[in-house]
Amino acid sequence: MNAIAKKLSPTITNMIRMDHTHVLETFHQYEIGTKPRVKQALVNTACVALEIHAQLEEEIFYPAMRTVSTDSAVLEKSYPEHDAMRTLIAQLRAMEPTDAEYDQTFMKLMRDVMHHVADEETTLLPDAERLLTDRLGELGAEMTKRRLQLAAPRAGEIAYNTVRGLPTTSMLVAAGAVLAGTYLVKRSSRRPFSFR
Ligand SMILES: [Fe+2]
Ligand SMILES: [Fe+2]
Repeated sequence: MNAIAKKLSPTITNMIRMDHTHVLETFHQYEIGTKPRVKQALVNTACVALEIHAQLEEEIFYPAMRTVSTDSAVLEKSYPEHDAMRTLIAQLRAMEPTDAEYDQTFMKLMRDVMHHVADEETTLLPDAERLLTDRLGELGAEMTKRRLQLAAPRAGEIAYNTVRGLPTTSMLVAAGAVLAGTYLVKRSSRRPFSFR
C-alpha cells in the first residue's frame, strides 16, 4: 500500500469503532415483528460483519496490542469471547428465522457483542491510542488491505443480505429522495428569478 493510501486510511481504532457501529445499527433494525425474510438478512449481515471484524482484530489489532500492553486481561479474554460469538453465529445459521429460538439466540449474540464492544471501546482502544500512537495509521492501512481480501469472496453474500434486509419504508424513502433530487435539479436549471 502506497504512502497516500496509508494517509487516507482511517486509523485502526476508528476503523474498529466504525465496524462496531455498523453491527449495532444492523441490530437496531431488528424488531420482533420484522418479517422473517428481513430478520434473516439482518442476522446474516451482522454475522458476516462480526466474522470479518473478529478475524481482523485477531490477526492485526490484538497482536499489535500484545507488543505494548501492560494489562492484558481484557485482551486475553477477547479471544474466547470471539469464539463464543462464532458458536452463536453457527447456531443462528442452522436455524430458520421462524424458529422459536431465533430471536432469543440473536439477542444473546448481540448482548455478548455489546459487552465485548464496551470493553474494547473503554479499555483497548484508548490504550491503543496512548501506546501505539504513530502506528495507528499504518495498522489501519494494513487492516483495510486485509479486509478487502476477506470481504472479496463474500461480496455476493454481503450485497444480497444488504438488499434483502432493507425494510420497504427505506426503499420508499430512497425512491422519494431520488424523485426530490430530480425535482430540485430541474428547478435549479430554470432561469433564476431577477429583481431587475
Ligand atoms: Fe473483538
Ligand atoms: Fe471489536
